[in-house]
Amino acid sequence: MEHSAENVVAELTGASKEYRTGDTTIVALNPTSVQFRAAELTLIIGPSGSGKTTLLSLLGCVIFPTLGTVKILNKEINDLSPSELAGVRLNSIGFVFQSFNLLSPLSALENVMQPLLLMGESRKNARERAMKAIERVGMTSRMRNLPKELSGGQQQRVAIARALVTEPSILLCDEPTASLDARSVVTVMDELKHLSTHGKAVAVVTHDPRLKPFADRIIYVNNGTVTDTPSSDDLLH
Ligand SMILES: Nc1ncnc2c1ncn2[C@@H]1O[C@H](COP(=O)(O)OP(=O)(O)O)[C@@H](O)[C@H]1O
Ligand SMILES: [Mg+2]
Repeated sequence: MEHSAENVVAELTGASKEYRTGDTTIVALNPTSVQFRAAELTLIIGPSGSGKTTLLSLLGCVIFPTLGTVKILNKEINDLSPSELAGVRLNSIGFVFQSFNLLSPLSALENVMQPLLLMGESRKNARERAMKAIERVGMTSRMRNLPKELSGGQQQRVAIARALVTEPSILLCDEPTASLDARSVVTVMDELKHLSTHGKAVAVVTHDPRLKPFADRIIYVNNGTVTDTPSSDDLLH
C-alpha cells in the first residue's frame, strides 16, 4: 500500500537544474529521479550548497527543471499554463521555511487566513478554516497574537497551520527547525510527523541529524547528487 504508485504525490524523473551566470554554469542538481508518497515523511539531508533547496524548489514548482520532468499529482508541470501552475502551487503544495515568513503586522489567525483569501474565499469561511488549522497545531490560545509576541517554535507552528490550511497534498519544509531551540524542534517535528501519519506527503530539508528519528525515509544530497545511502561524512553523525 505504502509503496503503490497511486500514493505518489510528487515525482521527479531525470530532473536536473543548472544555473547560468555569464559564461559559467553551475549544476545545482544532477539528473534526479525520486518519488514522494502520501503518508510518508521524507528527510532530505545534505551539507550547505549541496542542492537541497533546489530539489525542494523543483518539487514546489518554483523553478522549472533544465532537463527531465516534474509531476505533481500526476500532472507534468511543464505542460501547465502559468495560471494552472499558480493553481497547483496554491492548492496542492504547502511551504514551511526556516525563517517562518509570517507577515509581522498580522495576527497569527490573519496570517493563516491569507492563502484562503488569495484563493478568493470569503473572510468568514477563511476565518473558520484558519481557526481549525490553528487548532490542529495547538495554537488556539495565541491566535490573536502578533508573530513578534510568539516564540520561534510557536511562530513555526503558525507557519505550519498557514501551509496546511489549503489542504495541500504535499508539505515542503526547508530547514524548518534550524532557528529553533531543542524543545521547539521536537514540537515542530511531532507536528509534521502527525500530518504525515494523517496522509500528507511531507518533505523536510535539514542538515540536522537529530531529525532522523522522525523520518519514514531519508535521502541524501551531496554535491548535487541525490542518493538513498549516506556519504562517509553523513555516517559520522
Ligand atoms: N539562483 C541561483 N543562481 C545561481 N546559482 C544558484 C542559485 N540557486 C542556487 N545556486 C547554486 O546551486 C547550488 C545548490 O544550492 P542550494 O540548492 O541552495 O543548496 P542547499 O539548499 O543545499 O544549501 C549552490 O552551489 C548554489 O550556489
Ligand atoms: Mg538551502
